[in-house]
Amino acid sequence: MSDASIYSEATPEVSEQLLAVACRRFSSRTALVTGAARGIGFATAVRLAAEGAQVWIADRDNDALERAYAAARAHGITLHHAIMDSACADSIRSGIADIQAKAGGVDVLVNNAGGSLHTPFPLMEESGRDWERVMTLNVMSVVWTSQAVLPSMMQRRYGRIVNFGSKAGRFSSLIAGANYAASKGAVAAMTRQMATEFGPSGITVNCVCPGVVMTERTQRLWAERRTEEERAKILSDIPLRRYCSVEDVAAAVSFLASDDASFITGVALDLNGGQAMA
Ligand SMILES: NC(=O)c1ccc[n+]([C@@H]2O[C@H](COP(=O)([O-])OP(=O)(O)OC[C@H]3O[C@@H](n4cnc5c(N)ncnc54)[C@H](O)[C@@H]3O)[C@@H](O)[C@H]2O)c1
Repeated sequence: MSDASIYSEATPEVSEQLLAVACRRFSSRTALVTGAARGIGFATAVRLAAEGAQVWIADRDNDALERAYAAARAHGITLHHAIMDSACADSIRSGIADIQAKAGGVDVLVNNAGGSLHTPFPLMEESGRDWERVMTLNVMSVVWTSQAVLPSMMQRRYGRIVNFGSKAGRFSSLIAGANYAASKGAVAAMTRQMATEFGPSGITVNCVCPGVVMTERTQRLWAERRTEEERAKILSDIPLRRYCSVEDVAAAVSFLASDDASFITGVALDLNGGQAMA
């Protein structure tokens, strides 16, 4: 199955919770969120914009970008959008050059694009190509995107980078295989190294590590790869008795991207409702 076919043409929702922010922590900031036409990235983009940032959403799916733009606009939120394939270095470089020319620099980079690309769960069924695709999307995209924004962040001696790890990369996954877990573990390791390298330039680098978030993509994997009984058992083992929401992740990302977190760098922040303790 191609990974593009797992999405419908549904318009993403802008929840009231995302818009209900009392503070505008990003009023003079420009943010770029990759893979943001849907799911967690879209929610994060709306949250950052609701807090005053000028936000660019990048995605490879132009129709979905237009639906995301319209959905945000209907709530008084303007998101700028750019077509960018996060699995392609050239697409990232030219997309970011264009955004930087229009926006005058990126202060906050959210490396959200990622996923297991519906590759097999059992290791013995994962091909070399499956590994390559998953490592490219989850690891190389962070390398290419960061390399494209860091020169201007260093010049301005300010930057916030938030990468996307996962519970998979910290503790293991219940629905994605070893390739995805390895890629997210690499993101957490790269985050620490980048934090060390770029801290002296005034740039923080952190990552968020959510457990299962029921986005459109995850819901399908969840239903395919776990029985109803298994799903009920897993939920009952999460101390907070619910799954992570896109709003939970958007709040954590915006905190790490804000000046409230100006002395926090190199962390892998778990968002799993205590699941990893169980
Ligand atoms: N959903 C979860 O349960 C979960 C849990 C932990 C971590 N994560 C991580 O959070 C991030 C977002 O996950 P999600 O579930 O919201 O993702 P998603 O699959 O819902 O995808 C969001 C968007 O990414 C876009 N996208 C996919 N491949 C792309 C590419 N090559 N270039 C540009 N855009 C691309 C899609 O078009 C889509 O609009 C990912 O890094 C994922 O690994 C997700």
